[in-house]
Amino acid sequence: MTSKDHLIIFDTTLRDGEQSPGASMTRDEKVRIAKALERMRVDVIEAGFPIASPGDFEAVKAVAATVKESRVCGLARALDKDIDRAGEALAGANAGRIHTFIATSPIHMQRKLNMTPDQVLAQAVHAVQRARRYTDDVEFSPEDAGRSEIDFLCRVLEAVIDAGAGTVNIPDTVGYNIPDQFGSLIRTLRERIPNADKAIFSVHCHNDLGLAVANSLAAVRNGARQVECTINGLGERAGNAALEEIVMTVRTRQDLFECQTRLDTTQIMNCSRLVSGITGFAVQPNKAVVGANAFAHESGIHQDGVLKHRETYEIMRAEDVGWNANRMVMGKHSGRNAFRTRLQELGIVMGSEEELNAAFSRFKDLADKKHEIFDEDLQALVTDATLDA
Ligand code: KIV
Ligand code: ZN
Repeated sequence: MTSKDHLIIFDTTLRDGEQSPGASMTRDEKVRIAKALERMRVDVIEAGFPIASPGDFEAVKAVAATVKESRVCGLARALDKDIDRAGEALAGANAGRIHTFIATSPIHMQRKLNMTPDQVLAQAVHAVQRARRYTDDVEFSPEDAGRSEIDFLCRVLEAVIDAGAGTVNIPDTVGYNIPDQFGSLIRTLRERIPNADKAIFSVHCHNDLGLAVANSLAAVRNGARQVECTINGLGERAGNAALEEIVMTVRTRQDLFECQTRLDTTQIMNCSRLVSGITGFAVQPNKAVVGANAFAHESGIHQDGVLKHRETYEIMRAEDVGWNANRMVMGKHSGRNAFRTRLQELGIVMGSEEELNAAFSRFKDLADKKHEIFDEDLQALVTDATLDA
């Protein structure tokens, strides 16, 4: 590891991820996922929202009792009853955090909370002080920060840092921001808030416009040192920033970032499969990093390039995220080099160049009729071609 800053990975699969309609998890399922996240060396695991239900309280408590290496966090609105419940759920944690939030955007304050900005500010400060009774690790989020007025946001953040919040998280709750704007919001906040250096700036981006990862990364390039994200990008509505994309971008483009994560990236596929299996949310094949096609090559030009030198068409190693290897998909775009290589891998030795040509021509005919040619297909057409040649 270089002397780069540490980028804290705060995983909220078990909390915001669970807010995906249809993705709710039992206590035992949460514990299984939490163990996998701990093995991957995630820094903070947001295990749930203890006031939400007795089941979620028990789940947070069970995760807190099980996980020893990662910090375990519970969410609480800026209300005494929520904070007390979160404090209770986290009492057995080796390292616990209370994450409290209240909305700061005009539309949320007027239409949802029916509160004045001064009332919101006072409640935010009170919530942080109350949470500090339970733990010295308190995170505060001004919900809908992405649509909040900057002067007010600065006032609230300065006050909650003074009250003892060690992490201030800037949520783009409705995925409304775009990368350069969100990046400069983080920079402006860090520059304008007098006590900004007493807290870690975090971001929490939603994916309504498909920009959650890009917005999070823009924030990191502007000084954010914690990213909140979920496995497979699970989360409310269109989801949250995908952990695997954040982590692999920061790792692959080390030249662009002044910080690094501590994750064991080889555990990414394990976590992805586990979360997909438990929630029933399938991962789309073309999903970055964890999709079935993320390291698969079909076209002849690409296959030939990768066989000559992997980096012609790969910017990451499949093994580094927990795949066994990259994959050559045999289909109508595949070329002779990939065809020959696959036969060799299967232990099939063609007697002559004519035999290889005959087999390749049969392969192309078949590939026009089928999406993918499997090893059994290759075996059969090679036998036929040997007879023909
Ligand atoms: O999206 C959001 O604003 C949240 C907060 C609770 C951080 O999930
Ligand atoms: Zn959220």
